[in-house]
Amino acid sequence: MVLRFNFYWICFAFSISVLFILAVTRYTDNTNNQSNPERPNKLKNMVAMEDEEQWNIPNDGLPNIDEILEETRANIALELSNYNFTNSTAENLQQLLIESGGQPLRSLVISTWRSGSTFLGDILNAMNGNFYHFEPFMNIKAYQIRGPPEAELAISTVKALFKCDFDTFLHGYLERYLRKQVTPWYQFKHNDRLWRHVKYDRDLFFDPSFFSSFCKLFPFQSMKLVRLRLRLVQDVLDDHDLNVKVVLLVRDPRAVIQSRQGTGVEFCKNTSPDCSQPELLCADMISDYIAAKKLQQQYPNRLMVLRMEDLSLEPKRTTLRLFKFLGLALTPEVEQFLETHTTLQAGGAYATFRVSRDVPFKWKNILHYDYVEEIQTACKQAMDLWGYRLADNATHMASKEFYPLDTFNHSTILRS
Ligand SMILES: *[C@@H]1O[C@H](CO)[C@@H](O)[C@H](O)[C@H]1NC(C)=O
Ligand SMILES: *[C@@H]1O[C@H](CO)[C@@H](O)[C@H](O)[C@H]1NC(C)=O
Ligand SMILES: *[C@@H]1O[C@H](CO)[C@@H](O)[C@H](O)[C@H]1NC(C)=O
Ligand SMILES: *[C@@H]1O[C@H](CO)[C@@H](O)[C@H](O)[C@H]1NC(C)=O
Repeated sequence: MVLRFNFYWICFAFSISVLFILAVTRYTDNTNNQSNPERPNKLKNMVAMEDEEQWNIPNDGLPNIDEILEETRANIALELSNYNFTNSTAENLQQLLIESGGQPLRSLVISTWRSGSTFLGDILNAMNGNFYHFEPFMNIKAYQIRGPPEAELAISTVKALFKCDFDTFLHGYLERYLRKQVTPWYQFKHNDRLWRHVKYDRDLFFDPSFFSSFCKLFPFQSMKLVRLRLRLVQDVLDDHDLNVKVVLLVRDPRAVIQSRQGTGVEFCKNTSPDCSQPELLCADMISDYIAAKKLQQQYPNRLMVLRMEDLSLEPKRTTLRLFKFLGLALTPEVEQFLETHTTLQAGGAYATFRVSRDVPFKWKNILHYDYVEEIQTACKQAMDLWGYRLADNATHMASKEFYPLDTFNHSTILRS
């Protein structure tokens, strides 16, 4: 016990000193740079000064970072004490922890708006010991990254976050926050394991070194992105240290378009072509298909494609397949999540309580056939590729004979 404690302590002390050295080198380099005038050690003060009222939370002294880290480390070890790491290509927990010099199991979900990725992300996050990098590009709103000039920064951000390096990311976040473009809870609340420590604590909220040390305690790291096309993920897969596994989640474009017209997704409406035009959605679906085929040949065990409808209709079976691919064991927590989230109904555009058998085909009862025809005209090729059947006319669409799904064997179609 004493030995083990010492070992943790040495690891911890070591990573802190490395971080400190990195931080010092990085920021002393920048001190004379006019375009980058805010030094990180001022971040907290700036937040405190500018937004005292918005936070509206008593500041009860300095948070004890060491305590939080120690407690989290112990919790993770306890929660995973019965976990069989053999299925996760490791002998023990330490081998999956960055703070112990290991590599976590990393998974990246690529999708687009309203395709079920919130639900899928929550399934992955139901795993004990998971650190959730939720939509780091949320700030670009209803815009798709398909190539230069944004791609380079986007990919380097993905890689940095997967390595638990939050310096650049939090800096950008703070700038947007000070320009009142984001609220602090905007995206981090999806990472409940982190959020519970930073939500009432402005001292921790913009502290990249806390984020980093905290993140390095977690053996599983998941990220989901709805604003980056699969083609660009090649660069992330090429980074062999990261060893990321990628899941492409697709959904019937008729259902996607219908869902984007609902309430709660105002950012997605007419002002944004990427979000409102079926032509662009379906061009992305074709591009993703081509990229999937190529990447699956190049990295046979690191890309999986999934249709939201398959997840909806057979949540348990599909999740089992997904977890096997990711090298994760289906733990009781995940099973419980599936049970409570696939049977009940609850409101709200982002509720994940609605994934059940009737969700995938709801669009049939809502969209007018004329509009469906318009979508199908724009999307015929994408629908053929991903196994979605066309409705021939209004009567056909409403009839029982019309079943929108074709069989789709993910591995064989993509390898043919
Ligand atoms: C200053 O910082 C900006 C952005 O951080 C960078 O693009 C630029 O090259 C830096 N300039 C110098 C002189 O270091
Ligand atoms: C863990 O799983 C592996 C592979 O399924 C199995 O061989 C091994 O016996 C398991 N270990 C324990 C402790 O259950
Ligand atoms: C672990 O892997 C083995 C072999 O692939 C499999 O039979 C077993 O069901 C897996 N265990 C869990 C808990 O997923
Ligand atoms: C509608 O489509 C169905 C199935 O293709 C076809 O049998 C039927 O004749 C069509 N009805 C009209 C009015 O075109």
